[in-house]
Amino acid sequence: MIFYFSGTGNSSYVANELGRILKEKVYLISTVNPATQIFEGERLIFVFPVYSWGVPPIVINFILNLSDVFKENLRNNGIPISVVMTCGDEVGKAPEMIEKTLEKIGLKVKGIWSVIMPNDYVLLPGFDVDSIAVEKDKLKKAPERIQEISEGIIEGRETVDVVRGSLAWIKTYLVYPLFKRWGVFPNKWHSTPSCVGCGICAKVCPLGNVSMTSQRKPKWGNKCCSCVACYHSCPRHSVEYGNMTGKKGQYLHPEKMNIRNDRHPV
Ligand SMILES: Cc1cc2nc3c(=O)[nH]c(=O)nc-3n(C[C@H](O)[C@H](O)[C@H](O)COP(=O)(O)O)c2cc1C
Repeated sequence: MIFYFSGTGNSSYVANELGRILKEKVYLISTVNPATQIFEGERLIFVFPVYSWGVPPIVINFILNLSDVFKENLRNNGIPISVVMTCGDEVGKAPEMIEKTLEKIGLKVKGIWSVIMPNDYVLLPGFDVDSIAVEKDKLKKAPERIQEISEGIIEGRETVDVVRGSLAWIKTYLVYPLFKRWGVFPNKWHSTPSCVGCGICAKVCPLGNVSMTSQRKPKWGNKCCSCVACYHSCPRHSVEYGNMTGKKGQYLHPEKMNIRNDRHPV
């Protein structure tokens, strides 16, 4: 069983590929039925993007709120747990963060891997999507990495096989808490006059945090998890965060690109 979270499609691609290779069912954590159960002989894999050198709070909350029966099944049936993080470049001490989260509910992780994928973070000065050449290169290398990881999962390999980057401790333990507190101000999201009210931003939000007004303009609620799906999915580049994103690029995993042509009103 694979539980994943994804904003711009990198992690959903990795989760689906692992699901295909390992013959595991794949569930998006923001929509998974709380009654879903795991049984003896199965394995559990978490796939998610790295946010600010840490684990997205939505993933942490999901794990901590797993039902008691699910947690008992995991512990009693010795279900092996693996973690695959997608990132633009580096994960810092995110492996320790996920280990600690799982330890809190009495679980131990076997293998932790990172997959470098195109960057989608654009909400601060100095951060933008990758050049086309870098994006292509990362996408080209991903299938081999996923294959390598799936072999590790099948073997039950105990490993932490990630790219941490420099100053990992500082980034995870000093910058991540700032991101968690101040990472996104939902009221900074707005649409520009070029918005045609197609509703794609509302449709792609994994938390259902974007709704369309009677004037067919998007409106953001307060539960934004900063996955940036709304920004990158807009076919007219009309979604903006303050004045931070106007001149920046957009990225969606190729498998999600068709969403930009999907103009059915929500
Ligand atoms: C809020 C946010 C924070 C991010 N922080 C990091 C980071 O610390 N390190 C990194 O390499 N990439 C970072 N990224 C890039 C994503 O981890 C990367 O593009 C990921 O593959 C996106 O996955 P998704 O398409 O499944 O949402 C960040 C992206 C977002 C939206």
